[in-house]
Amino acid sequence: SRVISLAVIPGDGIGPEVVAEALNVLQAATDGGDAAFDTTQYALGAARYLATGDTLTDEDLAAVSQHDAILLGAVGGTPGDPRLAGANIERGLLLRLRFALDHYVNLRPSVLFPSVPSPLADPGDVDFVVVREGTEGPYVGNGGAIRVGSANEVANEVSVNTAFGVERVVRYAFAAASARPRKKLTLVHKTNVLVFAGGLWKRIVDEVASEFPDVTVDYLHVDAATIFLVTDPARFDVIVTDNLFGDILTDLAAAISGGIGLAASGNINPDGRFPSMFEPVHGSAPDIAGQGIADPTAAILSVALMLDHLELPEAADRVRRAVVADVAERGEGHRSTSEIGAAIVDRIRAH
Ligand code: NAD
Ligand code: IPM
Ligand code: MN
Repeated sequence: SRVISLAVIPGDGIGPEVVAEALNVLQAATDGGDAAFDTTQYALGAARYLATGDTLTDEDLAAVSQHDAILLGAVGGTPGDPRLAGANIERGLLLRLRFALDHYVNLRPSVLFPSVPSPLADPGDVDFVVVREGTEGPYVGNGGAIRVGSANEVANEVSVNTAFGVERVVRYAFAAASARPRKKLTLVHKTNVLVFAGGLWKRIVDEVASEFPDVTVDYLHVDAATIFLVTDPARFDVIVTDNLFGDILTDLAAAISGGIGLAASGNINPDGRFPSMFEPVHGSAPDIAGQGIADPTAAILSVALMLDHLELPEAADRVRRAVVADVAERGEGHRSTSEIGAAIVDRIRAH
């Protein structure tokens, strides 16, 4: 039987709480199947940084890179903690992993499952996926500041967009749209102001479109996209956008499709040169950490995305079917993290 080597980075805050449930679900969904997961845990995150000063050493990176896939909970300390100023964890750990492992596709599906309450009165059929660029944009650290702290301070954070980087993610998004029933791609940018980066994105989308005549192409400025995500989310099928717009839009997308506790993501290296990394969209949620009340569903659905990526579609479907059934029966009563995880495991084992 196939043995898949999985790196697990539980991380900080609610990360370890939700990852424990996700691993139970992974076990249940793959029990007796033809793939077995061999997991190795890595204690990385803010807690480790505060104790040792290390975020992700070269040795850590080399070790994690050897695995077939990575499951991450969430990393990051309490916002505002002066010891974590400078985004050490976000940049030094999470973004370093995404960049070093060339996760140029950040895949963030948004599906409003049946009977799940949405804050929208009439959401319609919400089923779209955001293909967020993962290695460029304003995230790359191409910035600097002078005269810091003075009245004349100047701070720059330059968005980097390369033809190579834009084309590969746009191509992936077209292929994804072409494989979906509605075959629609929406580029979201801000071409009316960001003429250089926006111009590059627009031109590349227009060029690649000629190779995918079956895909309908649409364009929205990012501000207008936030309107339509709230007033008419059913208009979206595949959204392709840059790293920062994609970050912001996917928290909004989570909110309209059942909440941040349900939003899953995959940081994909489509070339297969490096392991892809699966994680909930949410962070370490310091406001609820340690209470056992975090919703593990986003981490569990991230396991389903991982199983898809590893070409184990039946196991992925087992997870998704159990989640869909579980969320459909969620009433007002609040269950704990482990109660939700156990209920989903029970549903998988009952089939
Ligand atoms: P957050 O996503 O951690 O929390 C935002 C809000 O959503 C909070 O009220 C939180 O309680 C709630 N929430 C999040 N996940 C939930 C869940 N599973 N169930 C129920 N409620 C949930 O965002 P934040 O507060 O802006 O960031 C906290 C820390 O996490 C920061 O250090 C940030 O940098 C980091 N972060 C990490 C990741 C990651 O590891 N991928 C992602 C986002 C933020
Ligand atoms: C996310 C997070 C990260 C991002 C942060 C923590 C670096 O918000 O995964 O959405 O901005 O990508
Ligand atoms: Mn985010």
